[in-house]
Amino acid sequence: MSDLKNLLLHRNGFVATIQLNRPQVLNALNMELMDELIALFDSLDKDASVRCIVLTGNEKAFAAGADIKEMANATAVEMLARDQFSKWDRIRKVKKPIIAAVSGFALGGGCELMMHCDIVIASDTAKIGQPEINIGVMPGAGGTQRMTRAVGKVLAMELVLTGRFLTAEEALQAGLINKVVPVEFYLEEAQKLAKEISNRPPVAVRLAKEAVLKSFDTTMEIGLEFERKNFYLLFSSEDMREGMAAFIEKRKPEWKGK
Ligand code: HXC
Repeated sequence: MSDLKNLLLHRNGFVATIQLNRPQVLNALNMELMDELIALFDSLDKDASVRCIVLTGNEKAFAAGADIKEMANATAVEMLARDQFSKWDRIRKVKKPIIAAVSGFALGGGCELMMHCDIVIASDTAKIGQPEINIGVMPGAGGTQRMTRAVGKVLAMELVLTGRFLTAEEALQAGLINKVVPVEFYLEEAQKLAKEISNRPPVAVRLAKEAVLKSFDTTMEIGLEFERKNFYLLFSSEDMREGMAAFIEKRKPEWKGK
């Protein structure tokens, strides 16, 4: 993926960091950027030398939403033909953990992209919201559903109907993000957490992520069944034998990802 136009990719050990890179428009998510992003997620997901992915923007903006200029003249039928949102579903299918490192604006599609991630570390400058109502539309990449599940009905309704931005502190209190740090540290903090997760057994990480996400799609009974199957499946992994043996022998485990 050497011909990226709208993204930058940094690698450090098992951690890959994707940086959204359209700073002149606050990382507005145009179709070309989204196509590149989805292809990059696909390729990192298949790459055994990557165990955790950090998604970030820059200090001023994670992403200020879908590119309004690209949508302003589109008809409903054209939007239907673009079929953007089914592409976004592929981000939901990424098996490796994704940590969002958010600073500045995370708005509209930017907020929805953040909510596709598994963990969110934000800077104290973050402004997070779903302001689509102010341009005559509404969230379209999962905002009404994911925001509501994350923060509850009344706050989600307020954000979606008024377009008000949450401060980082409010987002933390509402359960939308994991941690707020001073702006100088948000990326470092996210990468530190990614490194920590990439030192965990990869098969267990994968099946555990899958089981947590399953809870959004199903009933408690089916979710518990799914969890149990993944739990039992881990007893066929070499890493499970190693993890338990290392505990008993009071030594550090060595994970093989098998
Ligand atoms: C296209 C955008 C943009 C966007 C900012 N820019 N957001 N271009 N699409 N979503 C561009 C501006 O046009 C401007 O370009 C440059 O970025 C800097 O933005 P300013 O507005 O000058 O900056 P500032 O005054 O600091 O205001 C920041 C802001 C504002 C509050 C974030 O830009 C804003 O309200 N942006 C739109 C936010 C929004 O409505 N997002 C939801 C989009 S709809 P120029 O060329 O003038 O310098 C959506 C639907 C989701 O996301 C559906 C799923 C994909």
